[in-house]
Amino acid sequence: MPDMPDVPPRIPAIHLPDGVTLPAGLTLRRPTADDHAAVVGTIPEWWGRPGTTLGTLLPRLFFQHFSDTSFLAEDDEGLAAFLIGFRSSAQPGVAYIHFVGVRPDLRTAGLARALYETFFAESRADGCHRVEAITGPPNRTSQAFHTRMGFTMSGDTEIDGVPVWRDYDGPGEHRVTFSRDI
Ligand SMILES: CC(C)(COP(=O)(O)OP(=O)(O)OC[C@H]1O[C@@H](n2cnc3c(N)ncnc32)[C@H](O)[C@@H]1OP(=O)(O)O)[C@@H](O)C(=O)NCCC(=O)NCCS
Repeated sequence: MPDMPDVPPRIPAIHLPDGVTLPAGLTLRRPTADDHAAVVGTIPEWWGRPGTTLGTLLPRLFFQHFSDTSFLAEDDEGLAAFLIGFRSSAQPGVAYIHFVGVRPDLRTAGLARALYETFFAESRADGCHRVEAITGPPNRTSQAFHTRMGFTMSGDTEIDGVPVWRDYDGPGEHRVTFSRDI
């Protein structure tokens, strides 16, 4: 599917902050709209939700309009990880991470931390002081990861010991919100 923007997209170079390294064999670049299908195709398996349409939560527009604030990591086997995030237009000073995923065989090696630290550094340089994200109540991995990354979870009620905002994204669509200063 061709994407023919009037103006070529901005593709800023990526500089890893001091002290941040990628696991060996990995390279980082900005995603483009051409990467959309491949990234979305990983989601059911990487999220442990085969057969679901979870990938529809990551539509093509993110690859068209937020490629300059997102990352994609690759190795010899192909797609290794991705972070899709942006700086808020309506809330200057706030950055938001919409999706992060790491291929299952590459987990707990510090890859998501490296992507987050790089996103934090770029967001700080762009004038941001806070990063936000959300997840679903059952996603304990995401909750553990974000807590470890210094985020605070919040909600207006508690479900199975987790703070949750009821009906956050519509009836029955409860969410846990994460926030941390950068
Ligand atoms: C969540 C996810 C992105 C973490 O990626 P990762 O590369 O394994 O994470 P890292 O190795 O960088 O871990 C960073 C920190 O989080 C901790 N962490 C990561 N996964 C964890 C888990 N399942 N349980 C507890 N802690 C965890 C690590 O111990 C590490 O802590 P430390 O640096 O202080 O030692 C990955 O598990 C994933 O892709 N999960 C499926 C998709 C998903 O749920 N994404 C998040 C919601 S959008």
